[in-house]
This record gives sequence, C-alpha cells and structure tokens, in this order.
Amino acid sequence: MNETQDQGRPGHDHDDDALRKAVDERLRDIVGRIRHERLCEAASHSTLGGGKRIRPIIALRTALMLGGTIEQALPAACAFELIHAFSLVHDDLPALDDDDMRRGQPTTHKAFGECVAILTGDLLQSMAFVIAAETPRHPERITAEVAQATWEMIEGQTWDTIGVFAEDLAPEARLELIHRNKTAALIKRAARAGAIAAGATDQDLALIDRWGSSVGLMFQVVDDILDETQTTEELGKTAGKDRAQGKMTYPAVHGIEGARRFVERLKNDADEALSGFGASAQPLRMMTSLLSKRTN
Ligand code: IPE
Ligand code: IPE
Ligand code: MG
Ligand code: MG
Ligand code: MG
Repeated sequence: MNETQDQGRPGHDHDDDALRKAVDERLRDIVGRIRHERLCEAASHSTLGGGKRIRPIIALRTALMLGGTIEQALPAACAFELIHAFSLVHDDLPALDDDDMRRGQPTTHKAFGECVAILTGDLLQSMAFVIAAETPRHPERITAEVAQATWEMIEGQTWDTIGVFAEDLAPEARLELIHRNKTAALIKRAARAGAIAAGATDQDLALIDRWGSSVGLMFQVVDDILDETQTTEELGKTAGKDRAQGKMTYPAVHGIEGARRFVERLKNDADEALSGFGASAQPLRMMTSLLSKRTN
C-alpha cells in the first residue's frame, strides 16, 4: 500500500516527526512547571536534550491505530517518557553504570552533580504519575500501567546492576528476566497505555501485549549489539561499556550472530502479533522494522 492510499486510515495521517513534536511540546510544558531553578534546568537537560522518543511514539501509535486521538494518549505518552528519562539519569549514576555521556552530552550527574541528579530522577518519576492521572479516559488504569512498568524496570535494573539473583536459573533465563524487566516492561506498557487511552478491548490488548513484549525485548538486544559494534560518537553514549563492566548481555551469552538471529525472531513474532489489526497497523509494522535495524 502506498502513502496516499494510507491517508484516511486510522493512524496514518501523522508521521513520526509530527508525533515527536507533540510530545516535545507537552514535555516542555511539564518540565516548565518545576519551581526550583536548578532542578528545572537538570530536568530539562535530562528530558528535552535529545532522545528518540520511542516509548511516547509507541503509545501514540497504538492509540491512533485503534481510532483514538493524540490528545487522548499524550499524557500517557509523556508519562512513559518521564519514567524513561528518570531511568536513564539513575542508570548513569556512579553507583549504577557510571557513565559520563548520554545523548552526546554530559550525563545529568556530570553536568549538575550527584545530589541534583538523584533528586531529578526522583522528581521525574513522581511527575510521571501526576501526568498519567491527567489522561481524559481511564486515568486510573493508565496510572497503574505506569506504576507497574516502573516497578518492573527498577527490579530489572537491580538484577542488572547487582547481578546476583535467581541462581537456580540458567544464564539464558536470567538474562531474559533482566531485559524483560529493565527495558521491555516500559515499552510494552507504553503500548498498552496508549491503547487503553483510546478505549482498547481486551482482545486488542492481548495482541498489543504480544507485540510490545517482543519489540521491548528486541529493543534491549539491539542496544546490547550496538554497545559492541558502534562507536561512542555514533551512539552518543560510551561504547563497549557492557563488556568492560562484565554485564550480562545477549552478545556476551549468545555471541553477536546469535543475538542478531534472536532480533530477527523477535521481529517476526512482533509482526505476527499485528496481523490481527490489518492495514491500520502499518505504522507499527514500520516502527518494528526501524527498531530492528536502528544504529543508535
Ligand atoms: C536507552 O534507551 C536505554 C535502553 C533502554 C536501552 P533509548 O535508546 O530509547 O534512549 P534515548 O531516549 O533515545 O536516548
Ligand atoms: C538500559 O540499560 C536500562 C535502563 C536504563 C532502564 P543500559 O544500561 O544498557 O542502557 P544504556 O546503554 O546505558 O542506554
Ligand atoms: Mg544499565
Ligand atoms: Mg547504562
Ligand atoms: Mg546499553
């Protein structure tokens, strides 16, 4: 189907740039509500200074696919981006991954000091719940999705950082548990939240869940591959960090080729989940393909 035929179908009349712009405008407004000047600057650095906006675009895309509007899903979309920004600020701290660069700029603790970085992460997290609760339809369900995703992400980060857990499980199963929680949870629940904001049925949600878990896991497998194969300049964050820190990653456990094959399998699973939605899922299909091939 070509682009002209796509126009007029639910979700086909906005390109990703238009969605990104809507998210950026709302995020700027949200961050502008912070009264403390230094905290506001640090939150702005952490939230508005670059970033692909994958999670909010996914939330908007699932809403649009089901015939919903940007306005209905924008609070959910921004709430997930705020949690993501919080996760990155804390992920970069010396006690976690100890990174100096993020999105081609100094990490928040490098630019503002550890105290302000910790408090910025804390604040972005609570702001996410305030914003989620501003959703016009089903605010309580959206807020619960944000809370559940945050819980899962934090447990995943703990397993990733402290390393010791579920010793009875095989390394492959432990690796999957880390990645499903630290990264896939936010992506899957962003997809669910956008759909809920647009009035999804249980049947819609079951398919979106399947798509979101495959794409969410795929996202972190690709991140692990890029950490080994790209340069710091290409990534805008320190390359080769996972191996240097002895992290459990897909290339470390399955080899680069094994990791690439897994990406292909997850991409196919994601595409299959969308087959139930027909042509209206075309933007999400394009998103799946883009995320499987991304280079930063
Ligand atoms: C980086 O996420 C952290 C992971 C979960 C791998 P993104 O690659 O989405 O980071 P930004 O927001 O585009 O910088
Ligand atoms: C990202 O894991 C997980 C979260 C931030 C929740 P990474 O530690 O691999 O992310 P990058 O590579 O620093 O972006
Ligand atoms: Mg990390
Ligand atoms: Mg990291
Ligand atoms: Mg990484």
